[in-house]
Amino acid sequence: MPLDPPTSDYLASLLAPPDDALASYPARARAAGLPDIAVSPDVGRLLLLFARLATINRPGLAIELGTLGGYSASWIARGLPTSGRLISVEPNPRHADFALDHLRRAGLADRVSILRSTALDALPQLLRDLGPSSVDLLFVDAIKAEYPDYWRLGRPLLRPGGLFLADNALGSDWWITDPPGSSASRDALARLNADLASDPSVDTALIANRQGLLVARLKTPAETPP
Ligand SMILES: C[S@@+](CC[C@H](N)C(=O)[O-])C[C@H]1O[C@@H](n2cnc3c(N)ncnc32)[C@H](O)[C@@H]1O
Repeated sequence: MPLDPPTSDYLASLLAPPDDALASYPARARAAGLPDIAVSPDVGRLLLLFARLATINRPGLAIELGTLGGYSASWIARGLPTSGRLISVEPNPRHADFALDHLRRAGLADRVSILRSTALDALPQLLRDLGPSSVDLLFVDAIKAEYPDYWRLGRPLLRPGGLFLADNALGSDWWITDPPGSSASRDALARLNADLASDPSVDTALIANRQGLLVARLKTPAETPP
């Protein structure tokens, strides 16, 4: 649900992007004809924070599904240690090219690589290339109707203690409380939210910001109940 306008304005000024590379992104992306569907700065800050928490005492390996122009990628990459690496998956060449340029401007080109592929092709390939239980954080923001498959195929990649984050857990041009069957995206998110909320192998929360951010952390063996 949208916040009231004064509260939104307060948050927008409190949590504004910290520097020009991020602050100038919306205008440059608009000028290049990219759709205005990147995460908001307050979600960007959450991504940075979660990337930091997921990579404490680790070299740092993260995956993103749905790069667009590299805006969320630059928040995640800033939360990684200097040794860290983000692989972001994007099949649209125009988006991927813009993202590479944006990441160069932001000084993050050495920390982020773009995998030009669809998410459903990339996940099995990444599992083969990186190995199971290798990834600290998986952020999904591509095709909403495919989210349950992103969890199914992405889960083997996550290390115990790793984080799975899903944008639009509450909605975008649909809403989670719309009737079942009204949209494939709504139904997919309703299924994923319910599956993760009742899965004893993860600790799950849903941050009810503008469009909802689902957060699930894979339990370690010591945390998993017998
Ligand atoms: C919502 S945008 C991503 C926004 C980005 N995460 C951000 O916040 O800056 C979704 C992106 O997914 C890409 N996409 C479309 N089909 C895809 C697929 N099958 N697999 C992966 N990405 C896809 C689109 O081209 C688009 O760039």
